[in-house]
Amino acid sequence: MPRLGLSLLCGTLIYSSLLSTPVHAACIPNTTDTPGLQNYLTSGGQSYTLSLCQGQIYNLTDILNYTAPYQEISTEGYPTDSNRATLLVGGFNISTAIYAQGSNLTGVALRNVQIDGNRGDSPIYTASNANLEFGGANSGQIVEYVKSYDPRGWSCLHIAEGPFTCSNMTVQHNDIGPCGSDSFQQWADGVSLSCAKSLVQHNTIVDATDGGIVIFGSPYSVIHNNTIHVQTRTLLGGINMVDIETWLPYGNFSGVLVENNTINGGFATEYGNSTLGKNNASAIIKVGIAIGPDVWWGDLRYGTNKTSNSTVRNNVLSGAFAFGLAISSSYNLTFENNTFVNNASFSASYGPNCTTGSSTPHDPVSVLLEPNTVSDSTISMPSFQSSPLSTTLTASNFQIVNGTALGLTCFLPPGPTSSPTPTAAEVSMPRRGRPRAPAGIQRRRAAQYLLPHPARAQDTGPQIDPG
Ligand SMILES: *[C@@H]1O[C@H](CO)[C@@H](O)[C@H](O)[C@H]1NC(C)=O
Ligand SMILES: *[C@@H]1O[C@H](CO)[C@@H](O)[C@H](O)[C@H]1NC(C)=O
Ligand SMILES: *[C@@H]1O[C@H](CO)[C@@H](O)[C@H](O)[C@H]1NC(C)=O
Ligand SMILES: *[C@@H]1O[C@H](CO)[C@@H](O)[C@H](O)[C@H]1NC(C)=O
Ligand SMILES: *[C@@H]1O[C@H](CO)[C@@H](O)[C@H](O)[C@H]1NC(C)=O
Ligand SMILES: *[C@@H]1O[C@H](CO)[C@@H](O)[C@H](O)[C@H]1NC(C)=O
Ligand SMILES: *[C@@H]1O[C@H](CO)[C@@H](O)[C@H](O)[C@H]1NC(C)=O
Ligand SMILES: *[C@@H]1O[C@H](CO)[C@@H](O)[C@H](O)[C@H]1NC(C)=O
Ligand SMILES: *[C@@H]1O[C@H](CO)[C@@H](O)[C@H](O)[C@H]1NC(C)=O
Ligand SMILES: *[C@@H]1O[C@H](CO)[C@@H](O)[C@H](O)[C@H]1NC(C)=O
Ligand SMILES: *[C@@H]1O[C@H](CO)[C@@H](O)[C@H](O)[C@H]1NC(C)=O
Ligand SMILES: *[C@@H]1O[C@H](CO)[C@@H](O)[C@H](O)[C@H]1NC(C)=O
Repeated sequence: MPRLGLSLLCGTLIYSSLLSTPVHAACIPNTTDTPGLQNYLTSGGQSYTLSLCQGQIYNLTDILNYTAPYQEISTEGYPTDSNRATLLVGGFNISTAIYAQGSNLTGVALRNVQIDGNRGDSPIYTASNANLEFGGANSGQIVEYVKSYDPRGWSCLHIAEGPFTCSNMTVQHNDIGPCGSDSFQQWADGVSLSCAKSLVQHNTIVDATDGGIVIFGSPYSVIHNNTIHVQTRTLLGGINMVDIETWLPYGNFSGVLVENNTINGGFATEYGNSTLGKNNASAIIKVGIAIGPDVWWGDLRYGTNKTSNSTVRNNVLSGAFAFGLAISSSYNLTFENNTFVNNASFSASYGPNCTTGSSTPHDPVSVLLEPNTVSDSTISMPSFQSSPLSTTLTASNFQIVNGTALGLTCFLPPGPTSSPTPTAAEVSMPRRGRPRAPAGIQRRRAAQYLLPHPARAQDTGPQIDPG
């Protein structure tokens, strides 16, 4: 009996050391092809960590899919700098590196890697997905310390609503961008959030071109302490709260809190502070924080729908904008103590699309409010600028101006324009690839796999200040 016991014990030790080997072994090198990487995840099962090697580039020929709850993809040793492994979207007709919207993917995590979307100078892919596709019918997923840039599709990071059961995503400490080009309709978002009760914090987003952070309803989410700025490309909106179709009832931003974010427009010498960064003169943010669908779409396509039940406070803006803060078509909005510090300027010219339709928007100002379409809201600006650095600014620069706040992305940045301005109806074009409740994801995915490579967007559109 003792002998048998001993042999069982030995057997157990050997067995367990063999079992643990794949989990704790050295990283999986990039000589492993994409099906091989996928196989580690599939056979690893729940809580498996796919550990990638520092400094290596993994040229993905296909989308990598999580397959079980609590799986992790990360770089060995969790570096936060350029030693993070890079997943390159290399394959034909794919625009996504990692997909986490399958069923039963609670708590999966992506940590300390870089995602190179590999779009380069190509036009944006039509009907394509984002660099990273998370969310869906899942909760508790985490994306942190990830650099995601140059997506072929419409976003650097998309958290999808699924059948409106997505909840509790954590998106933090990521460095995002550049995303998209600022040529007409070649834009891409930094973070596209459509998941309830989620937390988006401590992210830095540089040179996104559509929205820095776009909130698609996402009830009870908190978006705080993120930094959004531009260096070489014009960004349409710093933080967008304009997409009302996704979460129902239309405009359901209930309990959404946007607080303590820093949004820096351009700092080119002629518009601001050159020591804060090398900037193209034409790189501005058209609208720092955009609230209400009409701010975005001047054709009133959403009727009387309103961005509802949200709070926007204590955000800090600086640098060059067309409009710092713009509010229209909102219900039950609490908007307070959003400040401008250092050198802030508001300057842009009317583009050709501004004058279509029945109204022309107000010209650039720091804070524009369309009072006729805003109801049951508390909206105020602080009566003084609290920053000691704001010596050249006075409160009177930053009081709310009542006026027409329709389709404000129609404005064109100041600075030299080396190419024609857009002639297509920018404000009336649908935004490509945006979720459409309730079946948006399924439609986009289907379309993606049907598209042959040459069917990418042909209409590259005219350039807006390529700088
Ligand atoms: C592996 O990554 C290195 C960079 O560390 C790169 O030079 C090499 O081409 C990659 N190998 C493969 C097979 O992709
Ligand atoms: C990931 O899933 C998609 C379908 O959702 C599939 O087309 C693709 O081949 C999968 N990736 C791998 C590496 O098997
Ligand atoms: C989810 O995955 C785990 C581990 O693979 C499995 O044990 C569980 O049954 C799955 N749950 C559902 C609802 O499919
Ligand atoms: C990645 O792999 C594709 C083939 O799937 C190849 O065409 C491309 O040149 C590779 N890219 C790099 C940077 O190695
Ligand atoms: C939310 O997600 C985080 C990260 O996965 C997890 O630690 C936490 O327990 C989740 N909270 C709830 C209420 O499920
Ligand atoms: C904001 O984030 C920065 C960097 O992650 C951190 O140092 C700072 O303490 C945070 N501030 C707040 C108010 O959370
Ligand atoms: C706003 O909140 C009220 C009160 O909770 C709720 O009845 C209404 O449906 C909410 N509006 C939207 C668009 O979610
Ligand atoms: C915003 O900053 C203030 C002051 O630092 C802090 O009290 C508050 O908790 C912060 N809010 C969030 C959501 O982090
Ligand atoms: C730019 O702003 C920074 C931070 O406020 C300040 O330290 C610096 O002196 C400024 N530089 C110029 C040239 O105004
Ligand atoms: C709200 O928006 C939806 C979706 O675009 C639209 O079908 C509906 O007519 C709008 N409702 C009103 C009252 O304008
Ligand atoms: C306003 O929004 C808050 C936060 O979602 C909610 O608690 C409150 O009931 C709403 N009030 C009205 C009048 O809709
Ligand atoms: C107003 O916002 C600024 C900047 O975030 C913050 O330092 C200050 O504490 C806020 N004031 C109040 C009264 O919340």
